[in-house]
Order: sequence, then structure tokens, then C-alpha cells
Amino acid sequence: MKISITGSVISTVFVLLNLLPLLPAQEAIQGTRRYSDYEKPEACKSCHTDIYFQWDQAMMSKSYVHHWDEIEYFDLAVAHAEKVPDLKPVVDGCNGCHAPLAFMAGDVPPPRPEQGSRANEGVSCDFCHTIKAVRDEIPHNFSYVSEPGRTKYGSKAGLESPHHNTQQLDLFSQTEFCGNCHNEKNPYGIWVKSTQLEWKEGPYSRENVPCFHCHMPKAKGRSAKMAQEDMVAQHLFHGAHDPGKVGGAIEMRMHPNEREVLWDETVTVTVQLFNAKAGHKIPTGSVEDRILWLHVTATDADGKSYHLAVDPKGFDGEAYTIAADVLAYQDMGVPLGLPDFAGLQRDGVPAGDRIFRMPYFDPEGRMTIQQWNTASLGVDYRIAPRETKIETFTWAMPDDIPLGRVTFRAELNYQKLVKPVADFLKVPSDESDIVPVNSAETWIEVVD
Ligand code: HEC
Ligand code: HEC
Ligand code: HEC
Ligand code: HEC
Ligand code: HEC
Repeated sequence: MKISITGSVISTVFVLLNLLPLLPAQEAIQGTRRYSDYEKPEACKSCHTDIYFQWDQAMMSKSYVHHWDEIEYFDLAVAHAEKVPDLKPVVDGCNGCHAPLAFMAGDVPPPRPEQGSRANEGVSCDFCHTIKAVRDEIPHNFSYVSEPGRTKYGSKAGLESPHHNTQQLDLFSQTEFCGNCHNEKNPYGIWVKSTQLEWKEGPYSRENVPCFHCHMPKAKGRSAKMAQEDMVAQHLFHGAHDPGKVGGAIEMRMHPNEREVLWDETVTVTVQLFNAKAGHKIPTGSVEDRILWLHVTATDADGKSYHLAVDPKGFDGEAYTIAADVLAYQDMGVPLGLPDFAGLQRDGVPAGDRIFRMPYFDPEGRMTIQQWNTASLGVDYRIAPRETKIETFTWAMPDDIPLGRVTFRAELNYQKLVKPVADFLKVPSDESDIVPVNSAETWIEVVD
């Protein structure tokens, strides 16, 4: 069933959510299996040792225990469902992707990570390798069909193992496999995650370069201790939490509109940003949390620095893409039990910087990081795969600018979670660390 509701027709959240049925995939799988139907990752480790340690270091194995997930799930989502009971199915649904074994075992909400339940296995070996099909035409919201048992599915035909049967399925070479969890539609009918859909409408889909090529690259080796040498899919799943994956993803160059500029004139520098490395938009995935921003400075011949503000382009919703000192995220006050919550600083980066992002809005039209409480999306000003965006910075130099060289520097940075939110919720600082993506420089001579 297709749910499509716009923010403007909603009278209250409560009425709206009452009308919404459980998602079909949720009815089909929640509580239909037992934990004991699935083998533990340790059962695969003795033979697939190298793959095990790759997975163990990837976010896939931490999708339930990762501290920011625990904070958002228990302190915001579960707390929100306690106050607005209609949210319960959606909040149970978090586990369909983050703790799939717990979800299928009907163990929701699962015990906290420190209690050591099998929810902690996250997106595990036996979970992925017993996915048999996709339930929906457009994969999303845990639309996987899970058939645990002796047969482990994979992309290769005719392999033999002493521990299990193997079977080749085309699905293990198709992005729909990943789209089961990397596309998400919320109860308002909003696509709050659409990585596989972004890939599908982009150049990498036309050239048949699926997710696996970049996130599970193949290298010569043995997939199991007793296997023959072959090209083996590395289980890296590296993404936003790997500074090396994010670094250089966007290439950047910068030039001035003239080299010699009279001291009382205005100069414009142009920055080009090219998404050279990602098969989807940047940022993608948890877009409600993430920002990519461009900071430009000028340094004069005396070493004095000036911050340049981006030239506005005038498109609808642009205000959300230029850093400003305004408040947002007031809807966190509901789950946190703070009825008069004024909100937090929206961006936490210098005012005037360009932000590449897509804002999420709650039913009252305020920016939110609560994807389950998102009733509409704002302007999509992210950088699409192989897209080049151009930004200009026009600067009327100060009257006392010394003659000589002015150097311009552009820095492109990435943050997984906007800092004011991270600090407020006491999320470990690595989620809000500034990750450098790229930088560029150019110069002019100031003359009279
Ligand atoms: C006793 C050793 C052993 C154990 C334990 C084991 N495997 Fe395997 N597995 C193998 C061997 C050997 C192969 C074949 C490798 C080859 O020939 O390239 C294999 C192949 C596979 C494949 C490739 C299938 C394909 O057709 O592409 C998958 C997937 C797989 N195993 C998953 C698992 C999972 C999940 C576990 C734990 C639940 C596990 N294995 C436990 C030995 C083992
Ligand atoms: C051409 C290479 C390429 C392809 C194809 C590709 N990715 Fe990525 N992916 C990247 C790069 C580079 C990054 C790091 C930059 C970033 O965070 O967007 C990334 C980041 C990610 C992230 C973290 C994003 C964030 O900001 O939180 C996720 C999740 C992801 N990819 C999933 C996928 C899925 C799912 C597919 C297939 C539908 C896919 N990727 C296809 C290169 C690729
Ligand atoms: C998110 C889902 C996912 C998880 C988790 C996962 N795998 Fe895989 N695995 C895949 C996919 C997809 C492929 C095939 C990739 C390809 O061929 O491009 C694969 C391939 C394999 C292969 C065959 C490798 C080869 O190329 O010969 C083995 C063996 C395997 N996985 C074992 C494991 C083990 C053991 C674990 C846990 C330690 C694990 N997998 C975790 C999705 C997953
Ligand atoms: C059962 C659901 C599920 C499936 C299937 C799945 N993922 Fe994920 N994936 C997740 C979750 C949940 C996270 C977020 C983990 C976290 O940060 O808590 C994630 C995170 C990621 C990341 C980001 C890691 C980072 O550093 O931030 C990448 C990249 C990724 N997945 C790629 C893939 C690819 C490629 C596939 C298909 C082979 C795939 N995933 C299949 C649920 C899934
Ligand atoms: C359809 C699958 C799906 C559902 C449902 C889902 N998530 Fe996620 N979640 C993901 C994936 C995939 C990522 C990783 C995206 C990325 O790397 O950008 C993610 C990322 C996150 C992150 C950010 C992790 C990080 O490291 O930055 C948090 C927190 C989170 N989810 C919490 C939740 C909560 C709470 C719910 C329920 C209200 C929920 N998720 C529902 C798939 C899902």
C-alpha cells in the first residue's frame, strides 16, 4: 500500500498515525522466528576468520550496540512512543534494520546493549546469508525474506563447505539486497533514507557498478581457511565512520575572477565541487543528522584572516543551506519531557558557510533529526554522484587591505551528527568530529 500524506493536510499527529496500518513487511516478519534459528557469528569465525574480523570492525556488527544508536533509540524513539503510543510500530521497526534477529524474534524493545542479548549481533553473518528474496518491488523497510537454515546464500555457484550447503542467488549481486535496509519510508510516507534509490537514478546504476564494488571490493585471497584462492568479496562496509572513505570523496578547485585586483575593488572566487567517489548523493543515509559544509577564508599580505560568506543563489529553501545562528530541533522536547524546549543551534558551523544538506521537518515545520517524526523534506542541496556544484564568494576587500598577495583557502568538511545535537545528547565526540573531505587554494595580487 502506498502512503502519501503532505504536512499541510495534517490536523494532529495523533489522528494521522491512527490511520496508518503496520507496514506489510512488519506484519510479515515481526515475531515470526526465534533467535536460535540463526547461527552466531562465532560459528562462522573458525573457517571464515578473515571475513569475521573485517565484519567485526565494520558498523554492520555495531548497528545495535553503537552508543549513538542506543541514545537515539532509547532516549528519543522509545521515549517518544511511550508518550505517543501510535508511534510504537514505527519504533519497533527500528530493529528490523538495526537488530534484525531481535525484531524477528519479537524481542522488542530489545534489552539494552550492556545486557548482552543476541540483539547485539546487529546485522550478522547468518542474518545476511539466509536472506532469500526481497518482498517489495522497491526494496525498503526491512523488506527482506529471511529463511534461516543449513543453506547459506551467496554470489558464487558450486562452492562446497563442510559446515553448510551453499547456493548462488542473483540477489547477492544486486543492490536491492542492500536497499532492504538502505531505503526507508516513515509513517508520513516520507523517504527518510534513500541511498539505493539515489544510486538507481544515477550514473553508477546505468554502468552496473553496484554497492558491492565500492563497499565490498574483491581482492585475491581465500574466503575460508580450506578454500582455493579466488577473488574474495571484502566485508569492509566502510562508510561515514571511515575518514579515509569520506576523505577525497568530493574533489575541489578554486580560482579568482582576476589575478590583479585594485585595492578598492571587489573580487569573486569560484569553487567547483565534484562528487567523484560516491555512488549516491553526499551526504546520504542518515541525512537528518549529517552536514557537509564549505568554509572559505582570505589571508592578506600582513597575515590577517577574513571569513567569506557564500553568495546566495536565490533558490527556494536556500536559507537552510547557509549556516546561520537560528534554533531548531524543538520536537526533541516531547520524548525528553521538556515541554518548553526552545531548541538548539541549527548548524553549529560559522554563519555564512554553504551547507550541502537536505533538511527534515517535523509536523509543525521545524527542523528535526527525528526521522520517524518527519512530515516533509526541504530543499535537496546535496551533491549527486558525478555532479559538479559551483559556489561563488564575492568579497569587497576592507579599505585598509595591504598591497600584495591575498591567499584564499576553501575547506570542505563533513560531520556525521550536527554538533549542537551531539553535545546536548552527550553523544561520544567521534560522531561530531570534523572530518576533512578536501581543500583548495588560490590567490590574487592587490595593487593600486
Ligand atoms: C567448517 C568450516 C566452515 C564454517 C564453520 C562456515 N563455513 Fe561458510 N564456507 C566454508 C567453505 C569451505 C566455503 C567455500 C569457500 C570456497 O570454496 O571459496 C564456504 C562458503 C560460504 C559462503 C559462500 C556461498 C556462495 O555460494 O557464494 C557463504 C555465504 C558462507 N560460507 C557463509 C557462512 C556463514 C554465514 C557461516 C556461519 C554461520 C559459515 N559460512 C560457516 C566453510 C565454512
Ligand atoms: C562508486 C562507489 C560507490 C558506490 C557504487 C556506492 N557507494 Fe556508498 N559510499 C561511497 C563513498 C566514497 C562514501 C563516503 C562518502 C559519503 O559518506 O557519502 C560512501 C558512503 C556510504 C554510506 C555512508 C553515508 C553517510 O553519509 O552516512 C552508506 C550508508 C553507503 N555508502 C551505502 C551504499 C549503498 C547501499 C550503495 C548501493 C546502493 C552504495 N553505497 C554505493 C562510494 C560508493
Ligand atoms: C550486510 C550483509 C552481509 C553480512 C553482514 C555478511 N555478509 Fe558475507 N557477503 C554478503 C554479500 C552481498 C556477499 C557477495 C558479495 C559479492 O559477491 O559481491 C558476501 C559474500 C560472502 C562470502 C563469499 C566471499 C567470496 O567472494 O568468495 C563469504 C564466505 C561470506 N560472505 C561470509 C560471511 C561471514 C562469515 C560473515 C560474518 C562474519 C558475513 N559474510 C557477513 C553480505 C553479507
Ligand atoms: C538488515 C539491514 C541491512 C542490510 C541488508 C544492509 N545494511 Fe548496511 N547498514 C545497516 C545499518 C543498520 C547500518 C548503520 C549502522 C550504525 O551506524 O548503527 C548500516 C551501515 C552501513 C554503512 C555505513 C558504515 C559507516 O561507516 O557509517 C555502509 C557503507 C553499508 N551499511 C553498506 C551496506 C551494503 C553495501 C549493503 C549490501 C551488501 C548493506 N549495507 C546491507 C543495515 C543494513
Ligand atoms: C529501513 C531500515 C532502517 C530503519 C527502519 C531504521 N534505521 Fe537507523 N539506520 C539505517 C541505516 C542503513 C543507517 C546507516 C545510514 C548511514 O550510514 O548514513 C542507519 C543509521 C542510524 C543512526 C545513525 C548512526 C550513525 O552512526 O550515525 C541512528 C542513530 C539510527 N539509525 C537510529 C534509528 C532509529 C531510532 C530508528 C527507528 C525510529 C531507525 N534507526 C530505523 C537503517 C534503518
